[in-house]
Amino acid sequence: MKISPSILSADFANLARDCKMVMDAGADMLHIDVMDGHFVPNISIGIPVVKSLRKQSDAFFDVHLMISKPHLYAKQFCDAGADLITFHLESDSDIDKTIDIIKSCGKKVGIVIKPATPVEMVYDYIDNVDMVLVMSVEPGFGGQKFIPEAIDKIARIHSKAKELGLDELMIEVDGGINENTGHMCKNAGANVLVAGSYIFGAVDMKQAIKKLKA
Ligand code: DX5
Ligand code: ZN
Repeated sequence: MKISPSILSADFANLARDCKMVMDAGADMLHIDVMDGHFVPNISIGIPVVKSLRKQSDAFFDVHLMISKPHLYAKQFCDAGADLITFHLESDSDIDKTIDIIKSCGKKVGIVIKPATPVEMVYDYIDNVDMVLVMSVEPGFGGQKFIPEAIDKIARIHSKAKELGLDELMIEVDGGINENTGHMCKNAGANVLVAGSYIFGAVDMKQAIKKLKA
């Protein structure tokens, strides 16, 4: 199980410090939430922050684009230092073209689905991506409650991947992850857990990450 702490719950005035702290505590990568105030009703961080952070950290950057037109910005995020870019199936973009843009930058790519999007919709792309990200909350904010319907989606993606022999596929889940929900996701077949408030709100970050990995 890989753990990708969402820096949305970090202290933005001390972002480099918090990123280092969470990586030292045993995280496998950093989940960077990008919001445009249009695709989701919130604005977070963008290209310059990723670029600055890249100079301070050699961690694997898992960049989650919650933006309407990912095809217009994907290359800039790759150049800024993203290692993996996930973008939404519900975005206003040509999915195959956007996958190609990210791949041609030499980066990993993933498709994200919101809670209301049927899981079957990712099957067309599943053999052309490195990751499928299942949202277990409505994207836009940290600290929300886990939507249990995500479990069935994870299980179905997991069995589809097995059927197709996609042993390397990363199945990530994002939103409302804690010790209990994380365990449910693991049992369903998830292999990457995003957690923001659970990790950054923990008294002992190391212990929190350890519990998620267990
Ligand atoms: C929500 C973001 C999440 C968020 C998760 O739109 O995509 O990554 O930060 O936060 P928690 O773990 O607090 O639900
Ligand atoms: Zn996210």
